[in-house]
Amino acid sequence: MIDINEIREQFPILKQKVNGKPLVYFDNAATTQKPLAVINAITKYYSTMNANIHRGIHSLAESATQAFEDTRKSAQLFVNAESSDEIIFTKGVTEAINLVACSMEEMLKPGDEVIISELEHHSNIVPWQMVCGRSGASLKVIPVDDEGDLILEEYEKLLSQNTRIVSVNFASNTLGTINPVKEIIKKAHEYEALVLLDGAQAASHLEVDVQDLDVDFFTTSAHKMYGPTGVGILYGKKSLLNEMTPYQGGGEMIKEVDFDVTTYNEAPFRFEAGTPNIADVVAFKEAIDFVNKIGKENIQAHEVALLNQVTPELEAIDGLRIIGKAKDKVGVASFVIDGVHHQDLAIMLDQKGIALRTGHHCTQPLMKRYGLLGTTRASFAVYNTEQEVEFFIESLHKVLKLLR
Ligand code: ALA
Repeated sequence: MIDINEIREQFPILKQKVNGKPLVYFDNAATTQKPLAVINAITKYYSTMNANIHRGIHSLAESATQAFEDTRKSAQLFVNAESSDEIIFTKGVTEAINLVACSMEEMLKPGDEVIISELEHHSNIVPWQMVCGRSGASLKVIPVDDEGDLILEEYEKLLSQNTRIVSVNFASNTLGTINPVKEIIKKAHEYEALVLLDGAQAASHLEVDVQDLDVDFFTTSAHKMYGPTGVGILYGKKSLLNEMTPYQGGGEMIKEVDFDVTTYNEAPFRFEAGTPNIADVVAFKEAIDFVNKIGKENIQAHEVALLNQVTPELEAIDGLRIIGKAKDKVGVASFVIDGVHHQDLAIMLDQKGIALRTGHHCTQPLMKRYGLLGTTRASFAVYNTEQEVEFFIESLHKVLKLLR
């Protein structure tokens, strides 16, 4: 059993009032709040350690480098990569997908195919569209069914000898669907296609073992798992990373530079040009420790319990429709209500201190699939409580009386 009160104590922001009401933060799929350990690590880094990394031999530079590389080691263990050289620090998932897409561009030619799914966030659509546009490769899309599950029979029909990469999310930010990623990866590999998994909505509560999954690339953002914004990781199999063209040129990513020719460093440095976001990478380690200490299984069980509490209450509301009823879900409840605009609803609930996300959730093609402009979304984290869910439902009933 996890002690939610003890966990909540670690999050200063949860003690705040918003619009005069205690904050009920249900926008965790957008970004999670940060525990004191993460906040303090940033202050400690700038107060005691700040220096550029991998460059200086003075003591501060060595401490900063050590702390930065300690996070790489933690991230390696977190996803069970074989080597810490397979962990590249990025700004987040968006940059990681752009990195892989751009680096793969020269491997793509007309006739080649890239497969994504209808469930994807724009960050896993647009980079591939851009690269397909430049290389002449085609983009294929796995459709989603009415419940929010990917239609795997259609996926199998899309796979062919022309498939070069399959890039899908582990869990959907909009519907909460958990995808059968092991099966997706296995089927892609039967055609020698690579697979990239967007783990933004998975890493804080679902087991990620890149070796067991045999995934080629995996990415997640620190800020979706209680860490700072502006930091993420890209895992890639070492053999692939060292074959790929660097995404950006600059300091640190080189072996030798001459005006005629430059030779590139090995992974991970090959993909880390310029001074990185050192302080936030250092603080990211605290977020990994936070998740590990509570245990992902416990986090997922708690969030799903909240989802199971809220779902029947929502379904009991006249004219309310839950969008996304997949068999396996993370703690995300997206819904629409007849005659009520999602933005009006969210503005009125904000007056009661409740933070929700509304709109297309950066998944416009998915919204079009369901004939919607947007939904209201409640997404849970480990610090949310049953009482908050009760208050949310009570408030929703009150607001709906005013709105219709
Ligand atoms: N991808 C984030 C969300 O779903 C921003 O809200």
